[in-house]
Amino acid sequence: MDKIRIRGGSRLKGRIAIGGAKNAALPLMAACLLTDRPLVLSNVPRLADIETLGRLLDRHGVTRSEHVTNGTATLTLTAAGVTDTTAPYDLVRKMRASVLVLGPLVARCGQARVSLPGGCAIGTRPVDLHIDGLRRMGAEIEIDGGYIEARAPRGLSGAEIVFPSVSVGATENLMMAAALAHGETVLVNAAREPEVTDLAHCLVAMGAEISGIGTDRLKIVGRDRLDGAHHTVVADRIEAGTYAMATAITDGDVVLANARQAQLAAVVRVLYAAGVRVEETPGGLHVRRANGALAGVDVMTEPFPGFPTDLQAQVMALMTVAEGASMITETIFENRFMHVPELARMGAHITVHRASALVRGVGRLTAAPVMATDLRASVSLVVAGLIATGATEINRVYHLDRGYERLEEKLSSCGADIERVRDDG
Ligand code: EPZ
Repeated sequence: MDKIRIRGGSRLKGRIAIGGAKNAALPLMAACLLTDRPLVLSNVPRLADIETLGRLLDRHGVTRSEHVTNGTATLTLTAAGVTDTTAPYDLVRKMRASVLVLGPLVARCGQARVSLPGGCAIGTRPVDLHIDGLRRMGAEIEIDGGYIEARAPRGLSGAEIVFPSVSVGATENLMMAAALAHGETVLVNAAREPEVTDLAHCLVAMGAEISGIGTDRLKIVGRDRLDGAHHTVVADRIEAGTYAMATAITDGDVVLANARQAQLAAVVRVLYAAGVRVEETPGGLHVRRANGALAGVDVMTEPFPGFPTDLQAQVMALMTVAEGASMITETIFENRFMHVPELARMGAHITVHRASALVRGVGRLTAAPVMATDLRASVSLVVAGLIATGATEINRVYHLDRGYERLEEKLSSCGADIERVRDDG
């Protein structure tokens, strides 16, 4: 299996182009099932997860074509007729976001059979909020043989759905379903992540009527049919935040092209307190340290607009070499500290107690062979490797390929000594 090898110590300097957001592109792709007209998505990142969802859409009878210009892809997805409403286990278990086809399939076809995703490396991650919401909209749902069997032969009806806790995926699934339901749906305590907002804007472009976009109360008036649209995927705030941490840990100076401050406000605040400046420049964000030293900062993950769980591992890597201590608390997922033992193998001083990790800054990290079991944990090891003394080898690179486009190329263009080591054995 391929590895990433990094020799730490180079300061990152230059410009990194931030691509389209994976977590926006996935629900946007699922939205193609709501219409028989073409949905054209530009700025789609070229990642393994995008291909996995593409293969699932193929099964449903969607035709897709990809057009690449200057490294960015435009996808055209047409679900002229949905030929198969089953999302099988072998595809769903590879990527949980596959469950996002559930709402669109039930709304458009009156039925769907979608495998339950099961647990994953970062937690049990149930989909009860997706199922409860669809039931409120009139779907009959049974769990049979590991599958969600949903039926709504006379279509879905609008309903008021109050989420007991914030869920990005459930908000997206139900917003898509509501766009084709009879009557009005109100989603209360809805997720406000920029990826949810991006989906809402695309649905509006397809003819949906949605108000309250960007708030935690979304009102959707269902339509009989939706049209095609052309939509540009929002920039990936998590990719931008990751490279901001990478710049900060190396005491570098980098412009993150296409990144937007408004989507990273909580992250910018944490970085500021740590002694890192993130300033808006035309077309991007300029990241550099204020006056040399990094300071320990406490961080708690929360739904948007709070600090994102998808940057928790990366900020922890940064805090391992900050002066003083940092308390990092994870409130979204119950098991998202798999990077801790790996960072410890590189010399980090971290103690975990329940949902909090106390990080005491150390003078230096040292290279080690490491591996991680999810995307963000893996990239936190890349961030740490950039400053470690010696050559860090990161195994299980396929996790990185799920969510970071051309990672080695982007980092090495700013001076990092990083390479992919092919293992043909
Ligand atoms: C999305 O996952 C993202 N994935 C995740 O990104 C991200 O970490 C997460 O939102 C939180 O921001 C995509 O957008 C494809 P949730 P999602 O539903 O929608 C619990 C990455 O690294 N919950 O907001 O699955 C759940 O277990 C990833 O790119 C229920 O209890 O997250 C979790 O504890 C990983 N019942 C919390 O809510 C449900 O029915 C938030 O999950 C649904 C969720």
